[in-house]
Amino acid sequence: MEKKEAEIIQNEIKKEISEFKKKINKIPSLTVILIGDYIPSQIYVKNKEKKAREVGMNSEIIRYPKNVSEKEVLNKIEQLNKNVKTSGILVQLPLPDQISKERIINAIHPSKDVDGFNPINVGNLSSGYKSIVPCTPLGCLLLIKKIEKNLSGKHAVIIGRSNLNGKPMAQLLLKENCTVTVVHSKTNNLKNECLKADILVAAVGVPHLVKKDWIKENAIVIDVGINKVGENIIGDVNFDDLKDKAKAITPVPGGVGPMTIACLLKNTLECFKARLI
Ligand code: GUN
Repeated sequence: MEKKEAEIIQNEIKKEISEFKKKINKIPSLTVILIGDYIPSQIYVKNKEKKAREVGMNSEIIRYPKNVSEKEVLNKIEQLNKNVKTSGILVQLPLPDQISKERIINAIHPSKDVDGFNPINVGNLSSGYKSIVPCTPLGCLLLIKKIEKNLSGKHAVIIGRSNLNGKPMAQLLLKENCTVTVVHSKTNNLKNECLKADILVAAVGVPHLVKKDWIKENAIVIDVGINKVGENIIGDVNFDDLKDKAKAITPVPGGVGPMTIACLLKNTLECFKARLI
């Protein structure tokens, strides 16, 4: 069901882009900056480029060796900020030690920040204003809303408090009028907190942390975890253990992952459209 949902979004984007091409002969353009040779990042970035091209966007990857200076990357971002043809800029994380994540994220113009990580976008989201929303939590919300339209009054528990996932996920669910609990590595009695969840989002990076006796009957369970264990990629949730108890549960791989990319393309299209006005 999740893959289908991502495909539906991608097909809508593809249709919209082909109409722009016909009408104004312009299409969105996504630039991804990839630093170093970290294998998972190489795979993610290749996938993003492939999907962007499939929907008819321009997509380019700018690659730097792992010892590139921060100045060089900042100069490139400045150039891309000014380039009218660039709709969206994404710098793949993690970054090597000599480069400040904070300075890089702040350098990306908020109107081209397709990740939604720039503090201007983060602030707008937490204030309830219009903003670019980080792709993974946005994808999770779309999946949750496919199952349950009205989330008002539901108790959502989010495991993990990262800037990429946990915090923006909490903001999105608050906007939907959920009661939100964010739990993390220092939380006392994690299991008891999870048992309160109508909606449980696991974004913590601990393989199969969530077990059957951690959820209540009919909970919606969203697994953001991508953990390499031996040759396998497994989630933060023990899918097989929970699948008959949960109302809905996303698998890893194939659940949230495709939605993240679909939402990245959605954000890029929105940035493109905002520049036409
Ligand atoms: N690394 C892992 N996930 C992400 C993401 O969503 N965006 C960026 N820029 N880097 C990542």
